[in-house]
Amino acid sequence: FAATDVIAAKRDRKTLTDEQIDWVVDAYTRGVVADEQMSALAMAIFLNGMSRAEIARWTAAMIASGERMDFSSLSRPTADKHSTGGVGDKITLPLAPLVAACGVAVPQLSGRGLGHTGGTLDKLESIPGWRAALTNEEMLQQLDDVAAVICAAGSGLAPADKKLYALRDVTGTVECIPLIASSIMSKKIAEGTGALVLDVKTGSGAFMKAESDARELAETMVALGTDAGVHTVALLTEMGTPLGLTVGNALEVRESVEVLAGGGPADVVELTLALAREMLTAAGRGDVDPADALADGRAMDVWRRMIRAQDGDPDAPLPVAPATETITAADSGVLQRLDALSVGVAAWRLGAGRSRPGESVQATAGVELHAKPGDRVTAGQPLLTLHTETPERFGWAREALDGAWEIADAECDLRRVVIDRI
Ligand code: URA
Repeated sequence: FAATDVIAAKRDRKTLTDEQIDWVVDAYTRGVVADEQMSALAMAIFLNGMSRAEIARWTAAMIASGERMDFSSLSRPTADKHSTGGVGDKITLPLAPLVAACGVAVPQLSGRGLGHTGGTLDKLESIPGWRAALTNEEMLQQLDDVAAVICAAGSGLAPADKKLYALRDVTGTVECIPLIASSIMSKKIAEGTGALVLDVKTGSGAFMKAESDARELAETMVALGTDAGVHTVALLTEMGTPLGLTVGNALEVRESVEVLAGGGPADVVELTLALAREMLTAAGRGDVDPADALADGRAMDVWRRMIRAQDGDPDAPLPVAPATETITAADSGVLQRLDALSVGVAAWRLGAGRSRPGESVQATAGVELHAKPGDRVTAGQPLLTLHTETPERFGWAREALDGAWEIADAECDLRRVVIDRI
C-alpha cells in the first residue's frame, strides 16, 4: 500500500477497504505513515465521512494497535461509563462508588480536561495524596478489593488513538462523528468492560451542540459496542446548563461528596441514579436499587476506600481558593437560562482548565452557582462566585460570562436532564 492511495481514495469519496484501513492505522502507529499524511486522511474523513462498516473496521484496527485488558478473573460483573464531556460534569465521582456498592465492579479509565470541559483526573487530584497512575496489576487488585477504580489509561491501550487524537487536536479534525466514535469506543472496548453506558451530551457546553449530531454519535457508538460484544446503551443528556452548582476541580469534589452523603443538587443526583440504573441493568443487576446505597451510606463507604486505595486522604480538607469575587443579579425575576459554555470558559480562564496538554491546573479555581434556571432571584442577590489563585484573571473570566444568563418575569421551560435513551 501507499499512504497517498488511501488518502486519494477517501478524498474521492470512495469506501476504504478493510485491508487499507488495517494497513494505514498500523503503519501510522509504527511511524511508517507520516503525521502529514495522516492529517490529510483525517481531513478527508472529516469532509467525506465513513460508512458504519468503515468505522467498525477503523475501531478494530485502533484496538489491535495495543493491548486489551481482561477482567474475566473478577468475581463481579463489570460496567463502565463514558461521558462525552460537559461543564460541571462530576458524575463519575459519585457514580463509580455507587455502582460498586451495588455489586458491580467499575473499571473507570478517565482523562484530563482540555478546553472548557473538566477532566475527572484533574478533579480527583485536588484530594491530598491521590494518585491517578496505577499499573494494570494495581487496577485489577483494587477492582477485586474495593470494586471501584478511577485512574488514568495506561499507554498500552489503543496507542493509535493516542497519536491520532493529538494530531486531530491541532489539525481541526476533532468534531467528526466517525473519528470521535472510533476514538472513544476503541479505548472502552480495549479496556475490557462487560457493559458500557454512554452519557452523550447535547447543548452549548457539549462537543455535539445539536441534538441530531449527539443522537447520531450515540447511535454510532452503541452499534460499535454491541458489535464488539459489549452490552452498550446511551443516554442523551442536557448540557445547555452546567450540571449541579459547582464547576472546577476541588469545588466539584466537594459537591460529589455531598451527593454521596445523601444530599447534593437534584440534577446531579438524578443523572447519577439514572446512569447507575443503566449500568446495573446492563451488567445483569437491574434488581438492585442504587438509591438505597446512596441513602444508607454504602456508596460513601466505597468512595472512602477507593480514595484511600490510591493514597488519597478522604478526611483531608479540600483546598480553598485564596481569592473570590461574587457576581450579583441586576434584576428580580426568574432565571431563564445560564449558559454552560460561558460558565465552562470562565472556570477555565480562572485556572480550572488547561490550554495545552501537560499544563498544570489550579485545584481551587472555578465557578460556584447560587441559582439555576427556573429559580426566582432578587436584584442584588449573589448569582455566581468566581474562585481563583490568580485574581488578575477575574476580568477575563467576567468577559466570558457576558450575556450568559437572562432574568425575566416569566416562567421558564426547563429541559429535562435525561432527554432520551438509545
Ligand atoms: N474524546 C475522545 O476520547 N476522543 C474523541 O475523539 C473525542 C472525545
